[in-house]
Amino acid sequence: MAMFDLKMNTDYSHVNSDNFDVFLSPHVGRLTEIFNKYLDGLDFKTKVNLADFGANDGKNIFPFLKIMIELIRRRSASCEIYVTLNDQPTNDFTALVKNVEDFKKEIKDDFLAVHTIPGSAYQRCLPDETIDIGTCSLVLHWLSEYVVLEKALFYVPGMMVSNEERTKIRGLAAEDLKNFIKSRSTEMKKEDPVRSLKSWILPSLMTGLCQTRSNDEAADVCELFFHDLRSRFSDMKWANCKFYEVIFKKL
Ligand SMILES: C[S@@+](CC[C@H](N)C(=O)[O-])C[C@H]1O[C@@H](n2cnc3c(N)ncnc32)[C@H](O)[C@@H]1O
Repeated sequence: MAMFDLKMNTDYSHVNSDNFDVFLSPHVGRLTEIFNKYLDGLDFKTKVNLADFGANDGKNIFPFLKIMIELIRRRSASCEIYVTLNDQPTNDFTALVKNVEDFKKEIKDDFLAVHTIPGSAYQRCLPDETIDIGTCSLVLHWLSEYVVLEKALFYVPGMMVSNEERTKIRGLAAEDLKNFIKSRSTEMKKEDPVRSLKSWILPSLMTGLCQTRSNDEAADVCELFFHDLRSRFSDMKWANCKFYEVIFKKL
């Protein structure tokens, strides 16, 4: 795979938010590692579709998006990158769209398209099998419906609320999470199972094998292993499987 010598730009000043500095900036290294693993599973022949759910004004996702775009550009200088930013219809989409324009001016990438899509993340928002990589930060704690609490403004686990209120909140939260995963699993592209397994297993398999073998020998053993796995899986019907292996779960 061709690698492009792009310098990683860690100055996110124009697209930054306070939240990013406080909560997310310390995890950039880990996120980069995770994104890279997912990118290993993509072929970059067609466009790469990224989606963020609950984007708000976009300022928190832009620094990550910038990292993502830089990582993709190291692998392909000209594949199209198509970004979808979702939030509920009551969000300030005017602010989001303005920020998107600033972001695009800053990124200056001719093959980048960003669009917004209002809708509840607890329902289908995008067509079947269109998302390559999805993100979602600080959103799933929002319930899909209001639960009016008699003695509190909002619910924190462990808080004294009536049994009836707690049961209602828990039931709704469980239902919401199920709907979120169900919707995303329909929207996520289905991958070749061996290829996605490979990107997760290969590093630890290589580390183990390299204890007693040279790098080349270990790589040969891995190739044989995945070749064998592919032939074992070849007669299985994967078409109806739902792959829940999405970034939301891995974080
Ligand atoms: C705390 S903000 C997080 C914003 C941003 N993702 C971040 O990390 O800073 C929560 C966002 O989730 C959005 N949200 C809440 N419920 C949602 C739903 N059902 N579908 C889509 N977005 C939702 C809110 O409108 C708000 O913009």
